[in-house]
Amino acid sequence: MKILEVSGCGPLRGSTVTQGSKNSVLPILAASMLGGGSEISNCPSLSDVEVSLRILRHLGCTGALKNGVVTVDASGANAVNIPDGLMREMRSSVIFLGAVLARHGEAEICFPGGCRLGPRPIDMHLDALERLGAEIEVDGGRISCRAAKLRGAQINFSSVSVGATENAMIAASMAEGDTLIANAAREPEIVDLQDFLNKMGACISGAGSNVIHIKGVKELHGASHRVIPDRIAAATVLSAAAASGGRVELGRCRPQDMEAVLAVLGEMGCRMEIGSDSILLESRGRLKAPKPIVTAAHPGFPTDAQPLLMAACLTAEGNSVFIENIFENRYAHVPELRRMGAEIITSGRAAAIIGTERLAGAEVVAADLRGGAALLIAAMNAEGVSRIAGTEYIDRGYETPEAVFAELGAQIKRKEVKDAEQQQKKQAQEE
Ligand code: EPZ
Repeated sequence: MKILEVSGCGPLRGSTVTQGSKNSVLPILAASMLGGGSEISNCPSLSDVEVSLRILRHLGCTGALKNGVVTVDASGANAVNIPDGLMREMRSSVIFLGAVLARHGEAEICFPGGCRLGPRPIDMHLDALERLGAEIEVDGGRISCRAAKLRGAQINFSSVSVGATENAMIAASMAEGDTLIANAAREPEIVDLQDFLNKMGACISGAGSNVIHIKGVKELHGASHRVIPDRIAAATVLSAAAASGGRVELGRCRPQDMEAVLAVLGEMGCRMEIGSDSILLESRGRLKAPKPIVTAAHPGFPTDAQPLLMAACLTAEGNSVFIENIFENRYAHVPELRRMGAEIITSGRAAAIIGTERLAGAEVVAADLRGGAALLIAAMNAEGVSRIAGTEYIDRGYETPEAVFAELGAQIKRKEVKDAEQQQKKQAQEE
């Protein structure tokens, strides 16, 4: 089993750059199958990207990532089903549904299944595709969609969904007629998807607002596109720098995508110099507990940054409160943080942190992507050595985290340990 071994390192210092956005490149890779040859740059090397490339290859496309550039040739796309194994490896593979349906008039997937964050339903995805004229049959865990021709429609989402907005945009881009999406998600990744689709010949406007207008076109072609920086990976580096009392310059980021997170870091006492594509963060002395952090759809405070800022709050002066409104179960990192001496109480969607002077290194296990990042932030700010198992979750969304943080002075090593040894240690802790 692979682990990250982290020695509490004191302040992080130095400069680093932001990886490309995972949550932007995944829908863009799905959309790329509507054209011929595409070249997508600033693509991070992540296991989720690898799964998406395997799905594209399964669907008859070619797709490869080299030196941060993905080249896709979708001219040979010839399959309409995504096997269960691939669907289960990455819940967000549902994002291929709209693309396969738009390309072939039919698509077959299995339910992506729930995860640690909660059940991850896809009802809004399916409702949107039905509004566009798809006939959907659900048989056991399999979903078959058919649409001889997708037709433009008015889609009113009952609540905000990033993935459902993206699926609707992709499917509607080649529908007959106009589509209006109301209550659309407003994330920067939605704007990036609009930009990519329009480079392919689509006619979409309004992304970034809650109303998106799509004029269906007959055909799309391949395109070249540079993916936006990953605002959550950026928030991860800044939260680690803040927690450690360091001074870090973060390049190739988009501060305008991170206003809610930067506001909290400022409230906690971090001094920041904000450039057009860089943020210099300095945190001197002990952080101060921020006002309650309530997660919401963009431009509200992002749910993905909740675990990250929680890690920064653990040793802040004062008590912090989080309300997690997006996912039902996004506190799996809490029991693991408690092993490091964090004082956290959760009740339903609320979590209260009593700031403590110090954390102590411990053996912990990541249960999801951003929770794993929170453990890493806490471990770098703890006294002594921590060993973080479950690195496969962290690798879904972070490109070589050990290299990024070692560049800033962290003592962090990726190691192979025998399962039994790790298990024994965990059991010893439980006794
Ligand atoms: C995207 O997930 C992101 N993933 C998530 O990032 C992010 O946390 C989430 O948006 C919210 O911002 C990618 O972009 C690949 P949603 P998505 O549909 O699209 C409910 C990370 O760590 N819902 O906006 O799956 C859903 O259960 C990941 O990078 C329905 O009820 O999220 C949730 O409670 C984690 N029915 C809420 O809506 C549906 O049909 C928001 O989910 C769809 C969603």
